[in-house]
Amino acid sequence: MKYKNKIAKVLSVSTAVMFGAGLSLMTEAKTFKVAVGDAGGSPQHELGKKFSEVFKQKTGGKHKAKLFVNGQLGSEQDTVNDASMGTLDFSILAINNITPFSPSVGVFTLPYVIQSLDEAVELTQGEVGQELVENTVRDAGVRIIGWTYSGFRVLSNSKKPIKTLADLQGVVVRVPKNEIMIDTYKAWGINPTPMSWAETFTALQQQVVDGQDNPYMTIHSMKFYEVQKYITNVRYIFSIEPLIVSESVFQDQSPKVQQAIIEAGNAATKHSATYLRESEAVIKKDLVSKGMQIDDPANGEKEWIEKATQAVWPKFYDSIGGKDKLNRVLRLLGRSEV
Ligand code: MLT
Repeated sequence: MKYKNKIAKVLSVSTAVMFGAGLSLMTEAKTFKVAVGDAGGSPQHELGKKFSEVFKQKTGGKHKAKLFVNGQLGSEQDTVNDASMGTLDFSILAINNITPFSPSVGVFTLPYVIQSLDEAVELTQGEVGQELVENTVRDAGVRIIGWTYSGFRVLSNSKKPIKTLADLQGVVVRVPKNEIMIDTYKAWGINPTPMSWAETFTALQQQVVDGQDNPYMTIHSMKFYEVQKYITNVRYIFSIEPLIVSESVFQDQSPKVQQAIIEAGNAATKHSATYLRESEAVIKKDLVSKGMQIDDPANGEKEWIEKATQAVWPKFYDSIGGKDKLNRVLRLLGRSEV
């Protein structure tokens, strides 16, 4: 990826020189493209709107960031590829869709590691978050410059109320193409169906799959209540959805524009936490008023937690950067090491 970035950079500089514009080409007003995986009204969209507003303001109105919601610019995983090649400027997507390109971000996707919004904020804003920013630049050629906080991924389905792992058996559940999530469902006793986000609504509608998991806010903004009836309030992954910029695009900007990108990303991140705090309960209520039934997992989720952590954590120590990395995270969160 590093190599690709170098090529992208050399090409963009030589193109500028060829056309006699030199560095001035990079200072021309530009409208940057921002891919947004989810629909309008989603936490991703909310973060994107704030980013776009602050970025425009910080560049004195010279540059803009235009949002393309609902996967218009491709599936979330494709947008990582495109940004890495420098053919897309920005993307906002679920972290689980970055993990295949930069496995160490999987530490945020391991089941039952992050247990609240405060913990998500603490980790993403601290040294672990910074390390993951550096790793994704190195591994995937994209730079995380903002974090959307979307809440816990809860399990929805069209068939029946699910409270226990016994209830889950026989239900066909779509998951992202993410090994950690696939293995979590396997630990719970079923073989999930890996599928891109862009295909999920139709698959639920046509009953190719019975269910899926995503935060309340995403289920609401994607109108999944039209095709799903039951929600199980599991708390296995707290959904974090980074805003990434193509590293080659970022490096082509002047220090002033780079600064504006970073500051707008920070402002949007702060806004995202506030938005989740203010909106999640309202959204949950609205899902019920639209006919959804929400159940808590039985016995405080005990069997779900035990099965997932025992089977999945050890399997991914290497890919997240070692068991020590997980222990560091657990220590930072004030929990016992493994
Ligand atoms: C997924 O399930 O693939 C993602 O969580 C979708 C999203 O970005 O909301």
